[in-house]
Amino acid sequence: MTVEEKAKLVVGVGMPGMTIPKLSVAGAVGGTPAIERLGIPAMFYADGPAGLRISPTRPGETKTYYSTAFPIATSLASTWDTSVVNKVGQAQGNEVKEYGVDVLLAPALNLHRNLLNGRNFEYFSEDPVITGKMTAALVNGVQSNGVGATVKHFAANNQETNRFTIDTIVSERALRELYLKGFEIAVKESNPKAVMSSYNLLNGTPASQNEELLTTVLRGDWGYKGYVMTDWFAGTDPVAQMKAGNDQIMPGSPQSSDKIVDAVKNGKLDEAILDRNVKNILNFVVESPSFKNYAHSDNPDLDAHAKVARQAAADGMVLLKNDYKALPLKKENKIALFGTAQIETVKGGTGSGDVNAAYTVSVVDGLKHGGYKLHDELISEYNDYISELRAMDEYKIKPSPWGEDFGKVIPVIPEKVLNTEHIEKIQNESDIGVIVIGRNSGEGVDRQNVKGDYLLTDAEQEMIENISKAYHEAGKKVAVVLNIGGPVEVASWRDKVDSILVAWQPGQEAGDAIADVLTGAVNPSGKLATTFPVQYSDVPSAENFPGTPEENPTQVVYEEDIYVGYRYHSTFNVKPAYEFGYGLSYTSFDYSNIRVSNGGTFKDEITVFTNVKNTGAISGKEAVQVYVTAPDGKLEKPEIELKAFGKTKELNANQSQLLKFDLNAKDLASYDEENDQWIVEKGTYTVKVGASSENIKGTATFKVAKDIVVEEVSNSLEPQVEINKLTKN
Ligand code: BGC
Repeated sequence: MTVEEKAKLVVGVGMPGMTIPKLSVAGAVGGTPAIERLGIPAMFYADGPAGLRISPTRPGETKTYYSTAFPIATSLASTWDTSVVNKVGQAQGNEVKEYGVDVLLAPALNLHRNLLNGRNFEYFSEDPVITGKMTAALVNGVQSNGVGATVKHFAANNQETNRFTIDTIVSERALRELYLKGFEIAVKESNPKAVMSSYNLLNGTPASQNEELLTTVLRGDWGYKGYVMTDWFAGTDPVAQMKAGNDQIMPGSPQSSDKIVDAVKNGKLDEAILDRNVKNILNFVVESPSFKNYAHSDNPDLDAHAKVARQAAADGMVLLKNDYKALPLKKENKIALFGTAQIETVKGGTGSGDVNAAYTVSVVDGLKHGGYKLHDELISEYNDYISELRAMDEYKIKPSPWGEDFGKVIPVIPEKVLNTEHIEKIQNESDIGVIVIGRNSGEGVDRQNVKGDYLLTDAEQEMIENISKAYHEAGKKVAVVLNIGGPVEVASWRDKVDSILVAWQPGQEAGDAIADVLTGAVNPSGKLATTFPVQYSDVPSAENFPGTPEENPTQVVYEEDIYVGYRYHSTFNVKPAYEFGYGLSYTSFDYSNIRVSNGGTFKDEITVFTNVKNTGAISGKEAVQVYVTAPDGKLEKPEIELKAFGKTKELNANQSQLLKFDLNAKDLASYDEENDQWIVEKGTYTVKVGASSENIKGTATFKVAKDIVVEEVSNSLEPQVEINKLTKN
């Protein structure tokens, strides 16, 4: 290859409308350029985390190119079931391949550091172990099709406010134990073909120009073998990106290539570095469907994938409350549905994580499909209300300003207000009230701790209040369905209703999957992989999110350090509204015989056992969590940390299953930044097997006789400023 050809390959091609010719897969956001002289074909990249985002239609064609909108990542993590997530990955990857795309720009796995991050819906959890395991399951599923997956955004990209310029300041320990950990697990357990570096600066250096991150840690410490691309338009210096080990600049521009050629010619960039990057990219090009001339069908089996999406969506739903067995709904009962989200059900978040699906099943339609009796007049009233508002300029649904491929902008309409007489009348004509509350968020903006976002609006609060009052006075029940991408405030109103189901943003099969759970066709088995705090100020990063100065943050210092999510709540005794790992079922489970192997002495590995029995009357699945409390030594430790998890099979009434979890030294290790080592400190470790982070069913202990150095790693990514870290000492 000539230097010019190399410099062309390391700079991608971009979106339509740019200086670069339109890609042949409409809606793909980029790819690698063809180098015809050498028989190197173009490769195509498309988003994203909830399914393949391409244009559903193409000018001059009647054929449609819809892809499946799967549940958002937060919902997938709530399944606690890597086999379900792997199936989602297989189906997503099949659509990637059959629509002629080579690399999926997903999964995304930044942590839920703060619930206001506008893109949290694209990410799995506040915990790195569930994040890493879910990512690996997805990547393995996607890549089983022979296409590539991209893990993003590497790293510490945990907010949207000033995402291109914010400098994330974080300790080496919090990085290694939390923000990098999911990526480390994914790299080691699924070998993703690509990594996308993030927009933000990490401890002073733009992630895409950060050699310690992209080369020393990723390739050196972890042995990564794929290639690294930038996030779209990230970074400032193409030559620095090349040197750092950011193999490809996306979507790049001809000027980037020119700068790289000049740098090689005037000795500022060693050509060997360019060769290294070219090789990393070509390693995947030669494996790609495009290189193999794969004759894609443009016709994936969308019906089969819809079934996968529906099952995953139902499995990820979390039942927060179910007093007096208000749920499941009974077939003979007439249901009155309240709330505009019963019709405008939200399938997923907005931005590059959106999916152009053929349809979204609403809650109304889902219950109708299930053959349930609904209060039809009330549905008509909501339909009329929504149509009237949507006809107004203020509430018109418009294409995204980023282009039609990015879905639609759907302005939020105010909740319909029903007066008390009206509610009373509907109550008289129905047996149960079901209130659906929806939220959306997306790329580019963070959520806010205000009414209509994290907080319920006055109209929503009133709706809950008045409906509950009317139904309860008549001895009838009320359930709330939360159609959300991340936590909302629940503590102020949860006592008023009988049941609460977190349906998340469940993808295109939303209404059918919600109906599956509301009616008991599927017994809920999802559990929270992210904490629902009592109030926003209980979030450990509430004080320093999204950074300083307040009006226009340039820097965000992660002062809560290792105490993110339940690590904080459990260590500092701050009671959440619903804790990490929490979720109810329509049946009940008993845990017994919780024990560890080796007579309680740790030798390289230890196995944790528990028996789980379905003690209720109907079949169901249980997500089982293994936490460890490690002794404080040289390093302080959070009260508990999730070390393993699993899900039972569907257990019939009275049926039991033995679950086993192997923990090795690395699983137990903490990061000692003074010596750049993963260490297991001597002492007594308590294994806590639980149904949630607070509902521990049994414990067992084991001893580590002397300190173990598990792994020595590079001295990398030291913050340039002192961090005033939260500590329990
Ligand atoms: C997002 C990425 C996405 C890319 C291409 C960026 O704005 O941060 O997640 O893959 O756009 O659409």
